[in-house]
Amino acid sequence: MPEPLFQPAALGGLELPNRLVRAATFEGMATDQGFPTARLRELYCRLAGSGVGLIITSGATIGAWAKRPSTLGVLSPLAIHHDRFIEPWAEIVDAVHAQGAKLALQIGHNGRMEPPELRGSAPMAPSAVPLEATGVTPREMTQDDIAEVVELFGRACGRAQAAGFDAVEFHGAHGNLITNFMSPFTNRRSDGYGGSAANRARFAVEVVRRCRELVGPGFTLLMKLSFDDFTEHGLRGQEAVDMAALIAAAGLDGIEVSGGTLSESGERIAVRGVRAPSQEAYFREYARALKQRTDASVILVGGLRSLGVIQEVLAQGEADLVAMSRPFIREPELARRWESGDTREASCRSCNQCFENWMFRPLRCYLDHPQP
Ligand SMILES: Cc1cc2nc3c(=O)[nH]c(=O)nc-3n(C[C@H](O)[C@H](O)[C@H](O)COP(=O)(O)O)c2cc1C
Repeated sequence: MPEPLFQPAALGGLELPNRLVRAATFEGMATDQGFPTARLRELYCRLAGSGVGLIITSGATIGAWAKRPSTLGVLSPLAIHHDRFIEPWAEIVDAVHAQGAKLALQIGHNGRMEPPELRGSAPMAPSAVPLEATGVTPREMTQDDIAEVVELFGRACGRAQAAGFDAVEFHGAHGNLITNFMSPFTNRRSDGYGGSAANRARFAVEVVRRCRELVGPGFTLLMKLSFDDFTEHGLRGQEAVDMAALIAAAGLDGIEVSGGTLSESGERIAVRGVRAPSQEAYFREYARALKQRTDASVILVGGLRSLGVIQEVLAQGEADLVAMSRPFIREPELARRWESGDTREASCRSCNQCFENWMFRPLRCYLDHPQP
């Protein structure tokens, strides 16, 4: 009986060679304008050639910034806010396909976390809730702002489709704009986008509906969501699951189950020191609960390290696919190693030096070579 992990799986209209996903991971390998580089292409081809079924890029920005990230001394994210980004991606998509894997573009808007120095103005968010870490207070979005950002998502999605990507993943987790709307901690609105859970899910629903309208029924759309933002009066529990199901029903093929926010609870996104099977799969309960509420595929991320836990999650139907980030930084060939019978756990120790350095240095594992 073959292991469920290495059996083909459907994700919307996509046929995946297996159930193993490289979760979106900021690579720091874009140009200062947000174009993909040869180094990024090489990384994706390496992952693809060693058996990852679906690779999700790091988050690409859907709106243009006034200033380049290098002016702040940080690395640039990928960008997809203009048609000129289509062609360079088309070539990378072809190269990944030639290695047998699928490629999804993650797209997002940083909402209240967007640095004003880059935007050239105050960040936008559903409500003016300041960021404790920086003291920056975002501007409350008007209905026109909301409509405009929904269109930015739509246009970015169309570009991803034009470039030949197999799917788009909306980044709705970790404290970005979609999370800002979903969480009662950051959404204090009294109009149709605030208050009840259905109202707080409305922005995400509109994004999904508009994008589905533009890309048609056959294109795979995914969303990564935080099911607990670990803030007082924040998003959590059954309400988060119900909202995810509602958003999925608007036209998603899959939901990636995550948690935490970069602004308030970054340590919960990529939990440090995952060593024992009991520490693995730390958002598993949410995946299991979501499976009861949606027909969309459920992708579990967060602390998966051993084949035993992964096979259990899949065999028990708690998730349809599993995603990993840090283990692939240390071992891009991990999928091949497991498939060829070396089933020892991933050698990533979750030391999180990759996570601490992501804004400043291109992605690498620091375990054997710490930053001096
Ligand atoms: C260096 C680094 C960069 C990350 N960048 C992103 C990103 O661009 N988008 C995203 O959704 N998650 C990002 N994440 C979070 C991961 O996708 C994942 O949710 C988290 O690390 C937990 O999974 P893991 O235990 O397999 O690492 C990043 C994580 C790390 C370590």
